Order: sequence, then structure tokens, then C-alpha cells
Amino acid sequence: MEKILINGGKKLKGKINISGSKNSTLPILFATLLTDDQATITNIPSLTDVDTTIMFLNFIGKNIIKRGNTIKTYPSVNKYKHIAPYDLVRKMRASILVMGPLLSRFRKVCISLPGGCTIGARPIDIHLNAFQKMGAKITTENGYVKTFVRNRLKGTMINFKFPSVGATENVMLSAVLANGDTIISNAATEPEIEDLANVLNKMGSKIIGAGTKKIIIKGVNKLHGFDHAVIPDRIEAATYIIAAAITKGEITLQKVLPQHLRIIIDKLKKCGLYITETENTIFAKWIKELNPQNIKTEVYPGFPTDVQAQWMVLMCLLKGKTSIIEENIFENRFMHVAELQRFGADIIINGKTVKINGVEKFSGAPVMVSDLRAGAALVLAGLAAEGQTIISRIYHLKRGYDMLEKKLKQLGADIRKI
Ligand code: UD1
Repeated sequence: MEKILINGGKKLKGKINISGSKNSTLPILFATLLTDDQATITNIPSLTDVDTTIMFLNFIGKNIIKRGNTIKTYPSVNKYKHIAPYDLVRKMRASILVMGPLLSRFRKVCISLPGGCTIGARPIDIHLNAFQKMGAKITTENGYVKTFVRNRLKGTMINFKFPSVGATENVMLSAVLANGDTIISNAATEPEIEDLANVLNKMGSKIIGAGTKKIIIKGVNKLHGFDHAVIPDRIEAATYIIAAAITKGEITLQKVLPQHLRIIIDKLKKCGLYITETENTIFAKWIKELNPQNIKTEVYPGFPTDVQAQWMVLMCLLKGKTSIIEENIFENRFMHVAELQRFGADIIINGKTVKINGVEKFSGAPVMVSDLRAGAALVLAGLAAEGQTIISRIYHLKRGYDMLEKKLKQLGADIRKI
């Protein structure tokens, strides 16, 4: 199995382009199930989660081709299947997003319970309760959820107990073809929700309020094709800004939307990192010893859980300074802690918080990736550490970081696959 080898201690310096957002690309790909017309989607990142989704959609009956960073869909040659088997679904939790489009367009779907990162229980009750309110009948048998609706789904009022990103997307993907209006209260407000709403509106739906806590979706009878460029990946961007801070370097990010990174930029400025921005670039430079900042992960626009592990590495390296991180979104998202301790980190876990006592330096170590963002944290730790780090189980990284080694090499890192 491939591993990553890093000889740490190099200051990263230079410019890189940020790729298209993984978490926008996946729901947009599932939206193509809502029509047989052609769709052209650009700024697609090269990631295994994207390949898995294409394979999944092709299996269901879509005719999808990816060339470079562009995906085109063509009229289907086969009849659509309404089943999502275990082998495809277990690889990626976002597979659950197949439910909304298939249910609204074909009135039935049978899906294996989803997999994904091992960062907590991650139930799907919010998705299923919403479909039930829209008139769907749901049964669970042998690890599969069977859902069907006799006539069209019906528009209704849905109040989420928690603003789940996936459930907001799934309800949008189903309500667009429902009979009547659907109103989601306590909806997720992440930028990826707005990107999906923009696509659905280009397809002929009428969605108002995406990006706020109340989304109104007016059901229509038919949707059509679209052209769309995916928004930049804010989590990838945050990871590279932290890489600049951690290696005392200076990095310019291009093709990025700074407004999606407001809390990260503000927190890093409070730490003492020098940051300037234009409409679509961010320049980050280490100019002095940084101070710690406590963080609590929250839904957008709060501090993203997907940057918690990377932030922890930065806090670990602030010598003699103490900080606290509180994880409020997933209940098992500290699996990187044990691996960071192998570099010499001083971290104490207490329930959903960790206390970090900054150390002078990390020393390179053999470590293992447990999930996507934990993997990013280990790469950052390796870049900052003295000596050699060997990271195994790197397939997790390819799920979410487009051209990771290439971009880091471009910035001067000594990194390669072995
Ligand atoms: C999405 C992102 C993921 C990010 C997460 C939180 C994608 C492909 N993935 O995941 O990178 O970390 O948002 O920002 O966009 N929950 C329930 N019941 C449900 C659904 C969710 O209890 O039916 C809980 C989950 O267990 C979790 C929390 O809600 O504790 C957040 O989950 P959710 O917002 O749904 O995250 P995802 O859409 O899976």
C-alpha cells in the first residue's frame, strides 16, 4: 500500500490554486439524476469520492463522463435502477444523497445504510423523518432502507432538530419535484447548500433563502440541464493557510473565496498570522511567534469541524502556551490525537474537549491516517516536524485533497509517495 514520506522542517513558500469543493461537487452530481438533459459541471476536483460518485451514478443508469476537471452528463441508454448496494454506499456517506432525487423522480429507492469517515455514529434519522413528512413510506430490512411514495412527494413544513448539511441537501433534492411548497426551518447554511440551490435554480426549480436558516422550495413538474462551475474548497484552503502558519512560511492561495473562510481568517489573524485578501486570493505570512486561540466547532458560519484536526496541530506547536478545542458536531472526532502524540504533542482529552500544552517542536514519526481530516493534520504535523515522517493509509487523503503532494511540492515541501 502507498505511503507518504515527508522530510519536515521546510518553510512553505509560493502560490497554489485551490480546487473545486468536494462537498459541493457530490450533491451537484446527485442533482443530475433529476433530469435526462445534458449537464456540464466544471472546476471538479480529482478525488476518489468524486470517482466513487460517478461510478455510483453510472451504475444507477446515468451516462456521466469526466474529462480533466469537467463532467458532462448525456441521455441515459439504460433504464434507471432504484437500488444503491452496500459495496458502493459503504465507501462514502454522501451516497445517502441518492435518496432525494430518486424518490422524487421515480418514487422509490432502496439504499444500503451509508458508510464514510469513522467519526461518530452519523445516523440518518433527520433525512428519513423529512421524507416521511413528505409522504414517503419507509422500512428497514437486512441493512437496507426501502422508501417509496405512492403519488408525488408533497410539499410540507419541515423543522430540523439539528441543521444537518446532508439532510438539507437531500430535502432540497427531493422537494424540487414535489407537489407544492416545502419550507425547511433550522436548515444548514453552509456555502455548499447555496451552491446546490444555485444549480437547482439553473435547472428550473424555485428555491429561496438557501444560505439562511429558512429555505423555501417551490415544487415544479420538470427540471432541465445546466452549466455550472463548482465553488472553491474552503476546507482545502484552510488547510493550506494553516500549513503556512505551521511552517513559518508564506503562501498565496488563488481561485479561493475568502468570504467562506471568515472565521478561520479572523482566528488566525488573532493568533498573529499576517493575512491579506482580495476577492479571490488569500495571502498568509508568518511574521512573529503566534498566540493560541481556543475554538469550538459549530455549524457555519462557526468554526468548521472539518478544520478542527488541522487547527489542533497548529496549537500543539505554540511552545509553552495552552489552548482548548471543543468538538460539538461529531462525537468521535479526536482520533488524530493519539497519532499527534507520536510526534511529541502534549494533548489531554476530556469528553468533547481537548487541552493542548504547546511543545517546542515535533519530531518525525511513523503514523497512520484514520479519516480524511485527521490525515490532513498528520501531513501538517509531518511538514512541521524535524526529520522523517511516514504516513500510512493515505487513501483517506485522496478522498478530499486534490493533488496534495504536487501542491505541497510546488510550495517547497519535501514530500513524496513511496
Ligand atoms: C457534511 C460534510 C462533512 C462535514 C459535515 C459537518 C459532505 C459530503 N460532508 O457531512 O464534511 O464534516 O457536513 O459540517 O458535505 N446527524 C444526525 N442525524 C442525521 C444527520 C446528521 O444525528 O440524520 C448528526 C451527525 O451524526 C453529526 C451531525 O448531525 O453529528 C452533523 O451531520 P451533517 O451535518 O449531516 O453532516 P454530513 O452531511 O454527513
